[in-house]
Amino acid sequence: MIRLEHLTKSFDGGKTYAVRDVSLNVTEGDTLVLLGASGCGKTTTLKMINRLIEPTSGRIELDGRDALSADVLELRRSIGYVFQDIGLFPHMTAAENVEIVPRVIGWPPERRRARSTELLNLVGLDPSAFADRLPRHLSGGQQQRVGIARALAADPSYLLMDEPFGALDAVTRDQLQRELLDLRMALHKTIVFVTHDLFEALRLADRIGVMNGGRLEQIGEPKELLNEPATPFVADLFEHARRQAELIGATS
Ligand SMILES: Nc1ncnc2c1ncn2[C@@H]1O[C@H](COP(=O)(O)OP(=O)(O)OP(=O)(O)O)[C@@H](O)[C@H]1O
Ligand SMILES: [Mg+2]
Repeated sequence: MIRLEHLTKSFDGGKTYAVRDVSLNVTEGDTLVLLGASGCGKTTTLKMINRLIEPTSGRIELDGRDALSADVLELRRSIGYVFQDIGLFPHMTAAENVEIVPRVIGWPPERRRARSTELLNLVGLDPSAFADRLPRHLSGGQQQRVGIARALAADPSYLLMDEPFGALDAVTRDQLQRELLDLRMALHKTIVFVTHDLFEALRLADRIGVMNGGRLEQIGEPKELLNEPATPFVADLFEHARRQAELIGATS
């Protein structure tokens, strides 16, 4: 499981805080969705978990082990990361992108290729059509699938996903959300998923952590947040969503 204790990050020596005193647990096999508006500290929180950003203070534990004193490469091997901007290497094919971590950890070519073939299939990309394509010859949704396959390559225990469906149209997004739910059932990963979309959060989360201005406003099961909002911010968030849902209801 993942445990964050009083996690804090300031990029300017303490004048402002991107993340401030965030404490939370994610139980093994659960999906925690971090929900909040642009700039509230979601990406910074996620990047501290695999140490792409070093915390200013606080503690991170993965399976009871102190992540901040662990070997960084070993740590990152246990964590799959799907970047907000996808970040596929443009000069590498889809399969080569998926094989990056297996290559780094020294798998022989046949084993790497077998793994990328398996994973491209898993994320709905027929390897015979897509394995040798460069990212620029893939649609946004297809690139996002490659990004997810890449994160899964070394079979990590943890998956950190930073607005993976943010740039997609509603239909593709809906489809990928459904597929992620299926994947989750099949793979039993512990997932932290970042989004600014409450409906996406409700669909994917076991628990939701609402962030605002670097702080965690509330964390709990969706229905706890809905029925017992701890702060006016959380109450407003759900009220806003309810009005949107009513709007859809009124037109159907
Ligand atoms: N490397 C950095 N140097 C200075 N400030 C930074 C850096 N990275 C992030 N910040 C600041 O920290 C705050 C939180 O940024 P962060 O990227 O975590 O937000 P976010 O919630 O992921 O936003 P978005 O939804 O737009 O991706 C912002 O005010 C941002 O400008
Ligand atoms: Mg972000």
